[in-house]
Amino acid sequence: MPSSKPLLIAQISDLHVKAPGLLAYGRVDTAKALERCVATLNALDPAPDFVVISGDLADTPSEQEYDHLRRLLKPLKLPFAAIPGNHDSRELMRAAFPQARYAVPSGPLDQRIELGGLDLLLADSAVPKKPHGELSAPTLQWLQTALASSTDRPALLFLHHPPFTAGIWHMDRQNLSNADQLAAIVARHPRVQLIACGHVHRATLTTFAGRPCTICPAPNHAVDLDLAHLREPSFKVEPPAFHLHAWFEGEGFGELVIHQVPIGAFDGPHPFFAPDGKPL
Ligand SMILES: [Fe+2]
Repeated sequence: MPSSKPLLIAQISDLHVKAPGLLAYGRVDTAKALERCVATLNALDPAPDFVVISGDLADTPSEQEYDHLRRLLKPLKLPFAAIPGNHDSRELMRAAFPQARYAVPSGPLDQRIELGGLDLLLADSAVPKKPHGELSAPTLQWLQTALASSTDRPALLFLHHPPFTAGIWHMDRQNLSNADQLAAIVARHPRVQLIACGHVHRATLTTFAGRPCTICPAPNHAVDLDLAHLREPSFKVEPPAFHLHAWFEGEGFGELVIHQVPIGAFDGPHPFFAPDGKPL
């Protein structure tokens, strides 16, 4: 039986923060969306132990956007780490978050975070100025070394670009180009319990190299669920959400449960029963 108190890792993704006053695609107030997301994260009880931001923090990107992002993240009461997506700049992100524990002083923003009995591995899949993703040779080497450094600690792997075909044509052509290389590494390391991605702004679940593999929904807009190439690339403003990964310590690598958390303030919680135990 797993222990009753899990480690909680919130994953938020694809923030697309613009310069103040600008809307993404002329329509979406991504700053307001992030404010609501931060408020929901801060209100979670019990509080998550950590937050991972899985890419596309900025939109264009620019120094102004990262300044705006830092101001919007300031009220967040939880520790966090971020990896870049295709809308980010490694150099500007490094400058915006100099305190982060990057594996190397320049280049990819790979990070390994030890959280109690769990390892969080954040792999940089961004290719400068390109929409698709690729794990570079140094990142593949870092990942193999990080995974080999311990064989008994469970690990959650985060990267921006999904390594699988989601069925949305214009996103599939910009997913992770060297997914086969990632699969070969994951297959060698049973301690990888999850591959968690972003990029598509939709909650998606599959398996990859025999492990659960997810895409985290976004706090703002969603890529249109066009599974038959009916439309040009398009988005919809759907209910915003994020993922909450709950890891229970236990036999072997423990147990991982993934919750989807809607962003916003909702009616409740209300009791099911009166204080005397009778149904209400
Ligand atoms: Fe992206």
